[in-house]
This record gives sequence, C-alpha cells and structure tokens, in this order.
Amino acid sequence: MILGIETSCDETAAAIVNEKMNIESSIIFSQVDLHRRYGGVVPEIASRNHLEKINIVIDEAFNKSGLKWSSINGVAVTYGPGLIGALMVGISAAKSIALAKNIDLIGVNHLEGHFFAPLLVGLKPKFPFLALVVSGGHTSLIKVNEISEYEVVGQTLDDAAGEALDKIAKFLNLGYPGGPIIEKLAREGDEQAIDFPQGLRFSGDFNFSFSGLKTALIYFIRDNPEWQREFSMNDLCASFQKAIIDILVEKTFSAAEKLNLKEIILAGGVTANLGLRKTFEERARSSNLKIFIPPVELCTDNAAMIAGAGFLKWKKGFKKDLYLEATPSKDFKN
Ligand code: KG4
Ligand code: ZN
Repeated sequence: MILGIETSCDETAAAIVNEKMNIESSIIFSQVDLHRRYGGVVPEIASRNHLEKINIVIDEAFNKSGLKWSSINGVAVTYGPGLIGALMVGISAAKSIALAKNIDLIGVNHLEGHFFAPLLVGLKPKFPFLALVVSGGHTSLIKVNEISEYEVVGQTLDDAAGEALDKIAKFLNLGYPGGPIIEKLAREGDEQAIDFPQGLRFSGDFNFSFSGLKTALIYFIRDNPEWQREFSMNDLCASFQKAIIDILVEKTFSAAEKLNLKEIILAGGVTANLGLRKTFEERARSSNLKIFIPPVELCTDNAAMIAGAGFLKWKKGFKKDLYLEATPSKDFKN
C-alpha cells in the first residue's frame, strides 16, 4: 500500500493505492474558490492553505479507506514541477511520515503521476508509449520507454494550453478556471466561425506555442469592436478551443507516427475536455492507434495518480532519502 501526497499547485490531496493499482481512497481539497477572484493561482495563498489542509486530507484518506498506518509500505510525494512553496508543504509532510513510521519515501514527478493515471482504472498501455500531458502548467509530449525512462519529444515554448484557456477566460471576464467555462460555452458555438492561427503548425518539430493564439484573439476583439453583431461568445469560445485541440491532435499523432509508437496516453486537466477526448478518439480510430484517457476525475490534479506512479517506482526500487528536494523544474529524477 502506498500513500500519495500532492501539493504542487492548488489542490491539497492524499490517497492510498494498493498493490493491484486500485484506489483505496482519494481525497482532494481544491483551493479554486480561494484563487478565483485573482483569475489565477496566487502562490503564497496556495502554500498557506496546503499547510492548513495537509493533515486533514491525510487523516481523511485513512478514514475513508479504513486502513491503518501499519498497512502502508511507502509514502510517495510530488517533488516537482510546481510552485516551490506549495511543493515544500507536501514534501515536509511525506518526509516526516517516512521518518516517524519508518517507511519508504518515493519522489514522483507530477507529469509522471499524470501519465500513469490510466493504470488506476485497469487500462494497460504497453511500453514504449507516447504521453501527452496537457494542463494549466504543462503541454509536453513524452516518450515513455519504461518506468523512470522518459524522453521529452516536444513541449510548449511559452504558455501551456490550459494556461491559454485560463488567461483568455480572464480577459473575456468569464471566470476561473477557464477550461471548463470555455468548454461549456463552446458546446453551443460554431467552431468554424473564426479562423484562429495554430502556433508552430509547420515547424517540423513537436513543440507547441499558444501565446500567438492568445494574442490573435485579443487583436480580433480590438480590431472588430462590433464582432458580436456577427458572432456570439459561444462562437468565439468554440473557435478558440478548436485551434487548441487541432494543434494538440496534429502534433501528437505526427509524433506517434515519426517515433513509430502505437499507443498514446492523454493526461492532465485539459484532457477533461469532452471535445478534445472525442477528437483524439476519432483520430485514433482512423489511424489505427490505441488511445488511453483516464476518467475525468483522474485527469485533473489528484494524489491517487501520485500514489500509483509511486507504487510502480517503489516496485522497481526507486526510493529517496530525506534529502529529497522540491524543484520547480520539469526534469525527471528517479
Ligand atoms: O492538471 P491540472 O488540474 O493542474 C495542472 O497540473 O496544471 O489542470 C488544470 C488546467 C486548468 O488550466 C483548467 O482550465 C484546465 O486544466 N481544465 C480544462 C477542463 N477542466 C480543467 N480545460 C479544458 N476543458 C476542461 N473541461
Ligand atoms: Zn497537473
């Protein structure tokens, strides 16, 4: 049994996963209401609230599962990437537990947590596979050769896809977080209404860029003050969302083809988007590739994915000592 702890951004979460990779309990305290008025995550507010909630979510993970501390073999914690103060709260808790209970400490990269999430619901992708992690902080294509053997194939050079959705929702005064709000509005809109650019479409590599797309929307409104005579907010959201989905699909499938990978895992908060899921599934069907997408509740940040990845690493002998440090960088550590 592995206890997982996640505090890299604005969710304080603890979960317990068993040796069959089944979730015994998964508790998430979302701080989204605290950050909403700022239109984004305020790091200092995040750290302080992690500190207030961390022991509560851990206790609740035990209460909900009915398990005792004596059945826990290790504690897995996100060491990065993320907000440094926020990460330090989870790491301090995990180190204290490892020391006090004399159990193993496992360091998990947040992205690694995301791309192993489908294994928590019985999906069994075969190595090597391609993972697209697309969230508020990340847009990365990673070739997963084995547990702890990863190659970054491409990544965003500026904003993450979720970050672009959040920033545009803030610009349009729609609320926070932007992804689900834009998705809801997009459902009633015409995605062909406005032709937005797709960054780095013809760059010949697998990197992404979303800042030009953001600027294009802002200029579109500036240059067409009466745009709402012709288009609705739903059309604007649908067209903006489509530009994001299309480039994600395009780059992911061309990377899979170039690297000769037959299986793709989608992960991260933006993959909660039903339009994105549908587009990827359709493309996978027509190109004979297998696609794995975790259920929506395992797409956004949670500690079950950290416990799950922690369990896989623990089985392979990847353990950490009490010198494990938090890092904002995307680098993978064993
Ligand atoms: O994985 P996550 O919970 O946190 C990070 O690791 O960043 O992802 C949060 C991001 C936010 O940018 C949010 O707007 C986006 O995921 N998101 C969505 C949806 N639900 C959350 N984006 C598009 N459609 C959604 N339904
Ligand atoms: Zn995440």
